[in-house]
Amino acid sequence: MRHLIESNDFTKQELLDLIDLADNMIENPRQYAESCRGKQLATLFYEPSTRTRLSFTSAMLSLGGSVFGFSDANSSSVSKGETVADTTRIISQYADIIAMRHHKEGAAFVAAQYSLLPVINAGDGSHAHPTQTLTDIFTIHRELGRLDNLTIGLCGDLKYGRTVHSLMKAMTLFDNVHFILIASDRLPFPTHILDECKMKISYSESPSIEEAIDKCDVLYMTRVQQERFDDLAEYEACKSNFILTYEKLQQAKKEMIVLHPLPRVDEISSDVDDDPRAAYFRQAKNGKFIRMALIHTLLTHDFYSKSKHLENNLIETPQPCLNKKCITQTEAVERLGYVDNLSNHRCAYCDEPIK
Ligand code: NCD
Repeated sequence: MRHLIESNDFTKQELLDLIDLADNMIENPRQYAESCRGKQLATLFYEPSTRTRLSFTSAMLSLGGSVFGFSDANSSSVSKGETVADTTRIISQYADIIAMRHHKEGAAFVAAQYSLLPVINAGDGSHAHPTQTLTDIFTIHRELGRLDNLTIGLCGDLKYGRTVHSLMKAMTLFDNVHFILIASDRLPFPTHILDECKMKISYSESPSIEEAIDKCDVLYMTRVQQERFDDLAEYEACKSNFILTYEKLQQAKKEMIVLHPLPRVDEISSDVDDDPRAAYFRQAKNGKFIRMALIHTLLTHDFYSKSKHLENNLIETPQPCLNKKCITQTEAVERLGYVDNLSNHRCAYCDEPIK
């Protein structure tokens, strides 16, 4: 049994196989229309979602399976104080596969430890969003025909945006990938993730879209994650700092693509939408097919290796994790960690260094 907790849980070959399968599902949807007949997907969404939850639902229905779950934690026993561990123990006796979104970092990893079924992380706080990354790399592959030799501009909220964290980790599997980080000083890309990735990717920083755009093959725009700020004044100071306009897009390569996980607020002006380089609506469509490929694979495939998270020689960490947003702060779980490639101890739930 395999879970998908973080985007680097799969090997490069497994990712390429998923992409091939999703391509085939777009071409021949009827071939897969019964492939998950009789199987049930539980969608446990403790946080708001439109695309992710509905694309999971649409994906499972298109495979002939069925879906149940909740999209508002207040309508479940969570509002009575039930833990992620207990909820997962119960649901894993009803369903065949679980997709979970939660505001706490590491929640999906907790679920994976207590589940009898494959668990898919559909977003855990600011930590990770691996199925968005599958969508992103599937889109890059469809649009540009490659995943190597790319310059990717990441713009907006690089601190709290989980999609960019997972995307960088996945791109460490490919060759010659350079990131240009375009963010304000208040919302920088977390150093602990850069430390983890910088042996495999290179990166530079740019103060503006205008300075970076002509170098990019992909410009990945993100929303400032209002819900992650403790202080609303801080959010007000950060929002609307980086806006892609039609005028700025004119400096980009003809074959560049603009991605955005959506929802957008104001970071891409609507006059960009009609430009062929605006790939974000095609990206949202691709999200359904790559999730079909993922569900189909997790339910029908015999894996020869375990998820990285369970194989990673986990150890008990010397100190508790101090990240306030980590699930270990609110749920009594084992103090699990690992030693990273720079010999630092890290929390296995949120990946932050243990001080
Ligand atoms: C993203 C998320 O939830 O992290 N949205 C999505 O899944 N499509 C990005 C965001 O909310 O800004």
